[in-house]
Amino acid sequence: MTKKYTYGSPFFTGAVVKDLAIEATPIPYFKVCLEDGISFEYKMNDRDIVYGLGEASRGINKRGYVYDSYCSDDFCHLETTRSLYGAHNFILIEGEQTFGAFFDYPTKITFDIGFTKADTLKIFCNKADIDVYIIEGDSPLEIVKSFRQLIGKSYIPPRWAMGYMQSRWSYYTSDAVREVAKNYRKENIPLDAIFLDIDYMEDYKDFTINSERFGDLPQLIEEMKEEGIRLVPIIDAGVKIEDGYDIYEEGLEKGYYCVDKDGKPFKAGVWPGLTHFPDFLNEEAGLWFGLKYKALTDLGIEGFWNDMNEPAIFYSENGINRFYEKLSEITNGDKSVDNYNKIKDIVNSLQNSQEDYNSIYHNVNGKLIKHNDIHNMYGYKMTECTAKALKKLRPDERTLLFSRASYVGMHRCAGIWTGDNFSWWSHILLELKQLPALNMCGFLYVGADLGGFGNNASRDLVLRWLGLGIFTPLMRNHAALCTRDQECYQFENPEDFKNIIDLRYRLIPYLYSEFLKCAVEDKMFFKPLGFEYKDDEMARNCEDQLFVGEELMIAPVYTQNAIGRYVYLPEDMMSVRLKAGGELEFAEMAKGHHFVEIPLNEVVFFIRSGKCIPLCEPALSTDSLDMDNLTLIGFDGASYELYTDDGMSTDLSKIQKKTLEK
Ligand code: NOJ
Repeated sequence: MTKKYTYGSPFFTGAVVKDLAIEATPIPYFKVCLEDGISFEYKMNDRDIVYGLGEASRGINKRGYVYDSYCSDDFCHLETTRSLYGAHNFILIEGEQTFGAFFDYPTKITFDIGFTKADTLKIFCNKADIDVYIIEGDSPLEIVKSFRQLIGKSYIPPRWAMGYMQSRWSYYTSDAVREVAKNYRKENIPLDAIFLDIDYMEDYKDFTINSERFGDLPQLIEEMKEEGIRLVPIIDAGVKIEDGYDIYEEGLEKGYYCVDKDGKPFKAGVWPGLTHFPDFLNEEAGLWFGLKYKALTDLGIEGFWNDMNEPAIFYSENGINRFYEKLSEITNGDKSVDNYNKIKDIVNSLQNSQEDYNSIYHNVNGKLIKHNDIHNMYGYKMTECTAKALKKLRPDERTLLFSRASYVGMHRCAGIWTGDNFSWWSHILLELKQLPALNMCGFLYVGADLGGFGNNASRDLVLRWLGLGIFTPLMRNHAALCTRDQECYQFENPEDFKNIIDLRYRLIPYLYSEFLKCAVEDKMFFKPLGFEYKDDEMARNCEDQLFVGEELMIAPVYTQNAIGRYVYLPEDMMSVRLKAGGELEFAEMAKGHHFVEIPLNEVVFFIRSGKCIPLCEPALSTDSLDMDNLTLIGFDGASYELYTDDGMSTDLSKIQKKTLEK
């Protein structure tokens, strides 16, 4: 049962697809206070767990910290970070009372989950214009399902996008891309896509191609396709200001950019230097930008990643002016450390500044709306416009699309990657904790930069991260500028990497089938153990294991130099061990605690009691997988319901179901 409560006049975000009648207040569960905006307070019982918030820091259980839902470009996020790239305002309280709540609000909203006062959950925002949905049901799974029905069906990528993908900022030339493909193929490591970061463009201008370095892009796309490898270019939100650049000029002429308070296009510095931001909240402007992807789809491109769309602002023209004004005020020949510190603070404050977000305006149906009042909509709307245009450009086939910034609602048209992480062990665990929370909010096609984006990755870290990554629908290795090479073949004994990635490909019939089920039936692909075992305190408190689909449980290793790890089995299970040579070893294990040895070149996962899963033979790309000859592994007498389709069609009625018996 889902009920809607409305306060003031909320901005229409489009997150919700069901048209519900507005209930009379008071809202259940929460004490509402209408001072300084609006706040909602709930007294938590000691045993209550608070799930949700999608892409956020900290645990699966979000208790004990405070989170700001505000799309933020935070390159170096830590345990203390309050906002990440996505804004996903759904929480689920499980305990004395079990219910879900979605706060549909387009900009910053704070969730203080027992941080200020241990037993108090307080949600507050500056304006008392908000829709709140209360979702009740018999179990967390039922509540999530109802929430997912409220927000609409999740995006399904083409099947090739569930293959292993390699990225780097940047592969600077066509030949560098060829080299990556060649090396993967030489080592027989499966690979389905190579990503093109900003350097494929001419001076970082969207929808242009650097003719010196990627002059043969059409041919490269063809060549790679023959190898079963797709190229996936990046598109940034900002359009470079440059006379003669047709897209810049067209957008200017048509008035499609966000403006400042005087109605002049806002100037923000990003990778290309000064840019204008297309006004994705203006439908016409959004469609205009979206149709520009044609320049690349016409060349045979079948996937994109949308970036810098929080939007990230390195500086603005106004910010720079303010900086120089302040500088002349405070320097005056004073060379003190104090003054140096002040200047440093001013420089640091230029990036993603509130002053800038407060001086950008959108044209929403003819009305000027301040950006900071709808901040969390920007990346969502950019990606929605892209998806709408791609439907026109490639009507029959699904296109791979994922974005950095997001809000609930964007899950209907794209996936997300969790932004810039680091080659830190703690970020493996962070990814694991975010996965079920993202699924609750409809984002099924998700994954983090495997191996870590920032810093130099060690071989063992990449191997262990792959041990989790082989289960994430989006499985992409990506690394930042100036970091150590992170492609699998760059490390000693590449056969260890091959073996683990081969396992991913063997699992694709299962992973893809579960993905389809979850998308079609509004289910979660990754579940916390407590969702199935509500009365088992060990399962409820488990922060480093997940169920994957209906049949599997994973317990990845995420600490350096570990020879294995403790695993909790909430039921009898069968462990499946991938050995160094690719052989699989099975062992039945009893419910309870176990120490499981997991050498660096092995992976262990668990099949749930009485279940089985299909495997196929590995192949170098998903296009060459033989999905018709499947082997079942798991418990004898079990059956598996396989969902399949052609892997690319937008027509979901083509999904077929088949029962396989072991
Ligand atoms: C920021 C993105 O998060 C990262 O993945 C990308 O490599 C850089 N922008 C450069 O485009």
